[in-house]
Amino acid sequence: MKKYVVLLVVLPFVGFIAGSLVTNTFENRYIPGNNDISVNAADLPYDNTVKTGTIKEFDLSASTATIQLNDNDRFETWAYNGQVPGPELRVEKGDTVRINFTNNLLVDTTIHFHGIRVPNKMDGVPDVTQTPIQSGETFTYEFVAHDAGTFWYHPHVRGNEQVERGLYGTIVVEDPNEPSYSQDKVIVIDDWRILANGKLDENFNNMHDIGHDGRWGNVITINGYVLPEMNISSNERVRYRFVNTSNARVYTLDFGELNAHAIAVDGVLVRDTFDPNGFELAPGNRLDVDITAPDSNETFVIKDRFAGFENDLFVVHVGEERVDLQNFELPQAEKYPDMNISNYIVDREYALDQGGMGMMHNIVATINGQAYPNYQESSLSKNEFQVIRFSNPSARIHPMHLHGQFFKVIARNGVSVDEPFMRDTVLVHGFETVDVGIVPIDGGDWALHCHILEHAEAGMMTVVEVK
Ligand code: C2O
Ligand code: CU
Repeated sequence: MKKYVVLLVVLPFVGFIAGSLVTNTFENRYIPGNNDISVNAADLPYDNTVKTGTIKEFDLSASTATIQLNDNDRFETWAYNGQVPGPELRVEKGDTVRINFTNNLLVDTTIHFHGIRVPNKMDGVPDVTQTPIQSGETFTYEFVAHDAGTFWYHPHVRGNEQVERGLYGTIVVEDPNEPSYSQDKVIVIDDWRILANGKLDENFNNMHDIGHDGRWGNVITINGYVLPEMNISSNERVRYRFVNTSNARVYTLDFGELNAHAIAVDGVLVRDTFDPNGFELAPGNRLDVDITAPDSNETFVIKDRFAGFENDLFVVHVGEERVDLQNFELPQAEKYPDMNISNYIVDREYALDQGGMGMMHNIVATINGQAYPNYQESSLSKNEFQVIRFSNPSARIHPMHLHGQFFKVIARNGVSVDEPFMRDTVLVHGFETVDVGIVPIDGGDWALHCHILEHAEAGMMTVVEVK
């Protein structure tokens, strides 16, 4: 318990002070170059072509439910179909997904399908793509699952409260061309702020959380359980699909001695597989990992090290039962755009700021000086390569998520980086500037916001029109 208190109280204040000192020196470091590269939409590892014609239909409802995290922590909360995480929806690439949703809460809600390139009006952003679904109402979401991969769904109305209470679930889009693992498991990581009486802390959206790095909990769960144990056989090869549904906490994954390879990020298969140790799984991010168990009976603890100390996440127990080593190649995307460039022009800049005082003496978080629902209009051109810059002059962290698109990180603090994968959410660290390359292929009004849900709720959100 103690370690969380230290983190919540000490680190954010240090950052707050440092943040104001460094703000001004930062902008001078960027020298624009020439945007002389062309990246074609045809080079992207995804498109809108596959359609199976099969309709997969699901009924989902949001209502109150009682959940039990461990012996002490049992409370009434909000859930999809009475369970946290909500149902795992499995479909095949190209299927039409139809979700008949009923809102049994007493408040408005919507569902957003995080990372899935849905038609704009199915994106679940209240007052941008649909009117909020009121208490007692129903709404049908329908879209073609164009991309295989690991995705998730959650409300987009007062997300900081609704997601924290337990409204989230996963959607896995399978591709029959990818190797089939003997175990293909979603690993949903969430953290909860639980009071001494075992109940959920309902002090949502308080000034401290908004002004710092959002709401960090004191109990971490994997698929709803504290430190669960996963069993695999000796030699077995498994696919774990990590999803971070936490409001604010980042996890730096540590697989110890386990033989692990990252094969997909934010749903999309990577260009080159990489070592997942040290990967920062920020709120909203997904990471698919291929794990090969050793040929011996052993136990591993998968950990998080983001905040400088260890949190145990779950245990992998390799049992005595032995299977034949499965010898397929690590899955990788078939093509990838070359965005490895050092001279470019920034087409759109989104300057993030945090902790200013609003009219009501509330703390606001802003993008280009505006706190949502106010925002500066901005647009991107469809099928054209563009560069977006996120600049962050404070010590606060901001995992920035753009709806309906994938992008690739091309520079951090003006230094080229070549991440071998696409993303839909990028962690912008304190005092960092991140440039991403993007070729939007789906038109519409897409939300762009910090996935620390307290920051988003305090205004760190805008709408980008792709036209
Ligand atoms: Cu996962 Cu706009 O969010
Ligand atoms: Cu943020």
